[in-house]
Amino acid sequence: MIKVAPSILAADFACLGSEVEEIRRGGADYVHFDVMDGAFVPNISFGVPVLKSLRKATELFLDVHLMIDRPIRYVERFCDAGADLVNIHVEADTEENNLAALEKIRAKGKKCGVTLKPGTPAEAAAPYLQLVDLVLVMTVEPGFGGQSFMFDMMDKVRTLRSMLDAVNPGCDLEVDGGITDKTAAVAKAAGANILVAGSAVFGKADRAAAIAAIRNSETE
Ligand code: DX5
Ligand code: ZN
Repeated sequence: MIKVAPSILAADFACLGSEVEEIRRGGADYVHFDVMDGAFVPNISFGVPVLKSLRKATELFLDVHLMIDRPIRYVERFCDAGADLVNIHVEADTEENNLAALEKIRAKGKKCGVTLKPGTPAEAAAPYLQLVDLVLVMTVEPGFGGQSFMFDMMDKVRTLRSMLDAVNPGCDLEVDGGITDKTAAVAKAAGANILVAGSAVFGKADRAAAIAAIRNSETE
C-alpha cells in the first residue's frame, strides 16, 4: 500500500489548520512536518510550538522530519508535542548519539526513523535498520521545497529495500523531494512505499486530485 505524505512546508502557514483539514479530506495518509534549524540545513522552518498546535487541529499521523544538528537534544520534546513518528538524519550526530536518540523516541512510545542525504551511501543506515520503523531517502538536498527529483537516488532506494528485507522487512521506505505525479511512479518502482510531496500537493488548487495523481502514478 502506497502512502502519500504531503509536506506542509509548501502550505500557507497563515491558515495551517484548514490546509491540513483539506489534505485530510483529500485522502492524505500522513502529514510530513519539516523541521529546519538553520545549521544542519541552510534554512529555518518551524518547531515544537507549531507541532503542538497542529496536534490539536488534526488526527492525521504526524511524520516529523528533523533536519537539525544533534537531534538527541530535542527528540523527546517533539514526541511530547504530538509527533507520531520522529525521523533523524544519520549525518546529524555520532552513531552512538543517533542510536540513543532513536531509543529515546521509542521509549516515548513513538515510531522512529533515519534519513539519508543524497551524498550519504545506503550503508550508512546499516547500524540503525533493525531499530527503525522507517528509512527516508532524500531525493533532493534537504533545506528547500520545489527542487527537482534526483533520479540517481533510485539505486539507493533499491539497495535499502533489499537491506531492509533481510533484517526488518516490515520497515517503511520513504522518499522526499521533487515527488510529482510523474516521479512518484519511479520511486514506487524502486521500492518506496511512502511518498512525501510538498509543492505537488499544496501548489495545486485541487489537493484531493493532486494526492490521487501521486498515489496512482504509473510508469509509462
Ligand atoms: C526538503 C524537505 C521536503 C520538502 C519537499 O528539505 O524535507 O519535505 O518539503 O518539497 P517538494 O515536494 O516541493 O520537493
Ligand atoms: Zn522532509
